[in-house]
Amino acid sequence: MSGEGDGEALFRLLVSQRAHRELRPDPLPDETIERLLLAATHAPSAENRQPWAFVVVRDATTRARIGEIAAAAWRGGAREHSRARLSERLFADVDRWATGGLASAPVLVVVCGDRSRSDPRSLAASVYPAAQNLCLAAHALGLGSLFSTLATAGPDLASLLGLPAHVEPMVVVPVGLPARALAPPRRAPVASRTWRDRWGAPW
Ligand SMILES: Cc1cc2nc3c(=O)[nH]c(=O)nc-3n(C[C@H](O)[C@H](O)[C@H](O)COP(=O)(O)O)c2cc1C
Repeated sequence: MSGEGDGEALFRLLVSQRAHRELRPDPLPDETIERLLLAATHAPSAENRQPWAFVVVRDATTRARIGEIAAAAWRGGAREHSRARLSERLFADVDRWATGGLASAPVLVVVCGDRSRSDPRSLAASVYPAAQNLCLAAHALGLGSLFSTLATAGPDLASLLGLPAHVEPMVVVPVGLPARALAPPRRAPVASRTWRDRWGAPW
């Protein structure tokens, strides 16, 4: 199989996308956000029900409040849970992000799931691909983003944003210009996670 043109460009984006925890505060215009959301809304969903909804947060006070919700979740248990599980460097990055970096992104896109449009069993599986499309589209436009669930655990984010009872926040995606370039992502080789025909038969 050989790919050409746009296909190869997309492939390069797929294998170079990273989690950006340091973003510049420069504002992003609505047109840019709308392009990201267009990509998000072209994700697949069970029965094509499209059970996503987005709250685009630019307001500084609301961003700061979301930052506080994330920081409280971090300090309230996630920090200790993560300390032994993350590398020292990743832990330091997440620690900085969870206690200030998140709120300083110019835009926080809160990706929500609408239970009235989905079977509960497929809600997450139908919403997360939209969030990933959003992150990839941001990367294509030279923007950094992050897939982050830290602030979504308790009731505070839904209440802050005035979400109706059938809508739940599922992931917060900060978007902005990257503060610095990141090295290529590190991933385990495909063959270490892949079997041929049957579990246990090496790829
Ligand atoms: C479900 C999910 C939740 C995540 N939540 C957070 C988060 O709350 N905070 C954070 O800094 N990164 C979060 N991440 C980002 C991961 O840490 C990141 O994808 C992983 O370390 C790989 O990073 P890389 O693509 O830069 O190599 C989350 C990723 C996923 C898929």
